[in-house]
Amino acid sequence: MKKIENYIAKNINEYNDLYSKSINHPENFWSEIASTFSWRNKWTKTLEYDFNKPEFKWFLNGKLNITENCLDRHLEENPNKTAILFEPNDPNKETQKISYKDLHQRVCVFANVLKSKNVEKGDRVCIYMPMVPELTIAVLACARIGAVHSVVFAGFSSTALAARIKDSECKILLTADGSFRGSKVIDLKSIVDEALLECDSIESTIVFKRTGSNVKMNNNETWWHNEIEDVSDYCEAEEMDSEDMLFILYTSGSTGKPKGMVHSCGGYMVYSTYTFLNVFQYQSNDIYWCTADIGWITGHSYIVYGPLLAGATSVMFEGVPSYPDYSRFWNIVEKHKITHFYTAPTAIRALAKHSVSLVESNDLSSLKVLGTVGEPINEEAWNWYDKNIGKSKCPIVDTWWQTETGGIMLTSLAGVTKDKPTFATKPMIGIQPVLLDKDGKEILGYDKEGILAIKYPWPSIARTIYGNHQRYKNVYFTAYPGYYFPGDGALTDSEGNFRITGRVDDVVIVSGHNLGTAPIEDAINLHENVVESAVVGYPHEIKGNALRAFVILLDEAVIVDMEKEIKEQISKTIGPIAKPDIIQIVPGLPKIRSGKIMRRILRKIASGEKENFGDISTLLNPEIVKQILIKA
Ligand code: WTA
Repeated sequence: MKKIENYIAKNINEYNDLYSKSINHPENFWSEIASTFSWRNKWTKTLEYDFNKPEFKWFLNGKLNITENCLDRHLEENPNKTAILFEPNDPNKETQKISYKDLHQRVCVFANVLKSKNVEKGDRVCIYMPMVPELTIAVLACARIGAVHSVVFAGFSSTALAARIKDSECKILLTADGSFRGSKVIDLKSIVDEALLECDSIESTIVFKRTGSNVKMNNNETWWHNEIEDVSDYCEAEEMDSEDMLFILYTSGSTGKPKGMVHSCGGYMVYSTYTFLNVFQYQSNDIYWCTADIGWITGHSYIVYGPLLAGATSVMFEGVPSYPDYSRFWNIVEKHKITHFYTAPTAIRALAKHSVSLVESNDLSSLKVLGTVGEPINEEAWNWYDKNIGKSKCPIVDTWWQTETGGIMLTSLAGVTKDKPTFATKPMIGIQPVLLDKDGKEILGYDKEGILAIKYPWPSIARTIYGNHQRYKNVYFTAYPGYYFPGDGALTDSEGNFRITGRVDDVVIVSGHNLGTAPIEDAINLHENVVESAVVGYPHEIKGNALRAFVILLDEAVIVDMEKEIKEQISKTIGPIAKPDIIQIVPGLPKIRSGKIMRRILRKIASGEKENFGDISTLLNPEIVKQILIKA
């Protein structure tokens, strides 16, 4: 049987060849790739799909367990290879190297712990933990027994955590006493305590001791270290259907509640591995580091699953780029001889603000490949990254994709296809992107601009929004029937390279985090002295975008610091990442007759525009624009 290495493009001709095969005969192509994995039973049909229902099924009736592919499969050849290389927040504390054999054992032990808590196949498990190896162990232990993990980023507030637990009715919560973030210690357990007041579905909570903070343990709450004592390290993997749910991961929508995107076992396994190996061109002795948090999709696909499925060494970093100082990333690159470094443009821009001497005092010669993800990268940041970190010799892969897509969709392949500053460049093998005009017609040819859409399914497309298939259909498949609509605009250059121009909906990407403006407005409106609010994004030098809130108060004479109270309200409801940079109290908001706020104008004001607002004749209250500007 062929190995997956036979399907990794090593030069441009191979990319072209594989790409053609993947487009002309997608089912054959993906069936061959899938055959390189270990399955209990082979699938009977490769693909069944319908964009209108919408429904996507890959490798139908195939049986597998993804952890057998992440762990067991590597034990024969490479049991002692480091799977997880853990770098703690405190640079003076010891690095941990966890081999594939150790990881396998620890996952099996914890899988047995979950079983002892009556967690069964299909049950949802919420994981709210810092970036420690036990987080990866928790994720894989769920997958081992067929439980569905729902990881919630540990920077979210208690209200946001509770909403996510309730939405997917999680049975168990895995958490920690606290987390270290730079010089701060964050008291996770008390956030959990508050969230749990509202969550009836949670039967038990297991707490990993990280900070040693003094925490109160309630009924049905136990310590991780006690639970794993004397537990067998043998745990037979649960047999899963290819289309069984693997995980839920929440992402912000432009309206209302967060969307619990559902990913399934077979397709996600195949696509995360295949993209990892092609995009990063990982070789067996490389040390790969993705700086994301496992609370986001980038961490799921490119810290945990993709690298472990490929048998790679994946670095997990607990801390932040600024602690103890802004040279921390580069210290780590030197210390562990990192070969692959994958981060967000916002981090690059923040680091580029500091003296290059912080970079130059480190030996970065181990680096071979750089990557970026999460938002468009501006040319200045790209050039800084290329010159100072890559020393003009490392390809930079600018990878465009989403929580919904499960894996990288547009990208260059490191050293194989050409990179180009600010362009995500070409489709990944198997991906068919198009540009659409406003009427949903495909724009043919190159050097065009339009709405990005994908016209053929790929294995790791999200299967639904948990508990709300209608919303899944409405958001992604209704505006442009017959396509997947990601919500981004794009343009092409004369060679067909894609550049993402930004969101075309009310989602704003702040420091690489997807934030819906509607939920932030909802949070602001919860304040008793707020009548109405509108939140928009505007360009920001480091964060990419920042938020500005326009708020109408019930009583402007109320003597409290409204700005502070609004920010607190947002931190409490969503989390500190959603706090606007600017909060402006306004007498009114520009509205059209239907009552809809004309956000276009607010976006212009937020971007510093003073005069050119285009046609404002349809406004009910055109005078308001001037009034807002006076105080802006
Ligand atoms: C944006 C993150 C430009 C985009 C993996 C997308 C990007 C949203 C890029 C998804 C990129 C992600 N260039 N924009 N390389 N990567 N985006 O779900 O707007 O957190 O729709 O997934 O981030 O964010 P999410």
